Amino acid sequence: MSDHSAGSPHHDTAAPGADGGGDAAHTVDAAGRAFRQLLRGLRVWDVELPSFDPEAAPAEPLPLFRQWLREAAEAGQPEPHTMALATADAAGNPSVRTVMLHDADERGWHFGSHRGSRKGRELAARPRAALDFYWPAVGRQVRVGGAVTEAGPKESAADLHRRSTGALAAALVGRQSEVLGSVEELARASEAAWERARREPEAPVPSWTLYVLEPDEVEFFQGDARRRHVRLNYRRSGRAGTGGWERELLWP
Ligand SMILES: Cc1cc2nc3c(=O)[nH]c(=O)nc-3n(C[C@H](O)[C@H](O)[C@H](O)COP(=O)(O)O)c2cc1C
Repeated sequence: MSDHSAGSPHHDTAAPGADGGGDAAHTVDAAGRAFRQLLRGLRVWDVELPSFDPEAAPAEPLPLFRQWLREAAEAGQPEPHTMALATADAAGNPSVRTVMLHDADERGWHFGSHRGSRKGRELAARPRAALDFYWPAVGRQVRVGGAVTEAGPKESAADLHRRSTGALAAALVGRQSEVLGSVEELARASEAAWERARREPEAPVPSWTLYVLEPDEVEFFQGDARRRHVRLNYRRSGRAGTGGWERELLWP
């Protein structure tokens, strides 16, 4: 199913490579046209989608999140434990990247990274973040936002050392987000890191940090073929008898 109607004609003038004269902003070359055609041909919500009854949703978001991640995995969604992590610098400029979810429990959503990376520096300056999961196999999206804390060196090390040799080797390479001089430089550092990770599975990586995002908002979005998408938002509340959370539906 696609929402795209035909593009406006003045954005589609046949002037390939027009770079001098004319209004360059209004010209689209052959590559641009082919790209737009490709985009128009792509579909979303083109699979059998599950239904979601928000009335039957639990009082807290965590059990529903765990259920949805399991259902995404069972529906064949590749890498359902990857998520977009958005942070902002001290001036409020946002940045986003993909990271892996290491756990989700009563404390929050856990992920690991280097403290000195761009995201690590941004989290130090502004310890708040947002996460986004999108699982096309089930037409579902989950957004999580809240305060981020560091789990501490012991727990961070334990989390890293529970993971694969490759994960340890990657962490040992370090210098994440610094400018790299050449691919050869990375190859040498990576070779040495793999060798050390195999020899020393408990090798320390002091910059590696386990972060925990404690949510104050979690939104569940169930896509619907007729575009009657269901959005259920949980907001943390101090009110008694709500399980600590308020629930509300949102217009899609
Ligand atoms: C599927 C996937 C999983 C990733 N998982 C992580 C991760 O768990 N931790 C991490 O630091 N970077 C991970 N990365 C790399 C980040 O997307 C990013 O390139 C890196 O963390 C540097 O980001 P920054 O410069 O904004 O700090 C992953 C990338 C992909 C594509």
